[in-house]
Amino acid sequence: MRKFFLIGIGLFGLSLSQPSSAQAPGFQPVGTIRQIMLGIVTPTSDVIFAVPSKPRKDDKDWETVQRSALTLSEVGNLLMIPGHAKDKGDWMKYSKQLIDA
Ligand code: HEM
Repeated sequence: MRKFFLIGIGLFGLSLSQPSSAQAPGFQPVGTIRQIMLGIVTPTSDVIFAVPSKPRKDDKDWETVQRSALTLSEVGNLLMIPGHAKDKGDWMKYSKQLIDA
């Protein structure tokens, strides 16, 4: 009886140490906000802001604009992840606006 009890405790402990398959892996912020701004937001938004003044030659050119818009939009999500988000108010609002824009 005692043996079964100990095996039960062991299995219970093992189940606690294993993440369940339903658990999402945790977010893991890598860069600082400044690094994200300078490394991702500035180069991609430069491409978008240049559209009115720099005529696009062909579809390949427009694909670059489209890719930059996608990247910039996804940065909105990146800014909202735990570890990057600074508050639940304006920060989230501005991040959402970046996605929508
Ligand atoms: C197209 C949109 C955006 C552009 C072009 C932009 C651009 C920039 C630039 C150039 C800097 C200055 C980096 C430096 O020289 O120190 C900066 C800093 C910063 N931005 Fe943005 N940004 C945008 C959107 C956002 C959004 C949506 C948020 C927040 C929700 C945000 C939060 C910040 C913060 C907190 C800093 C200061 C970072 C630090 O020095 O620690 N930005 N941004």
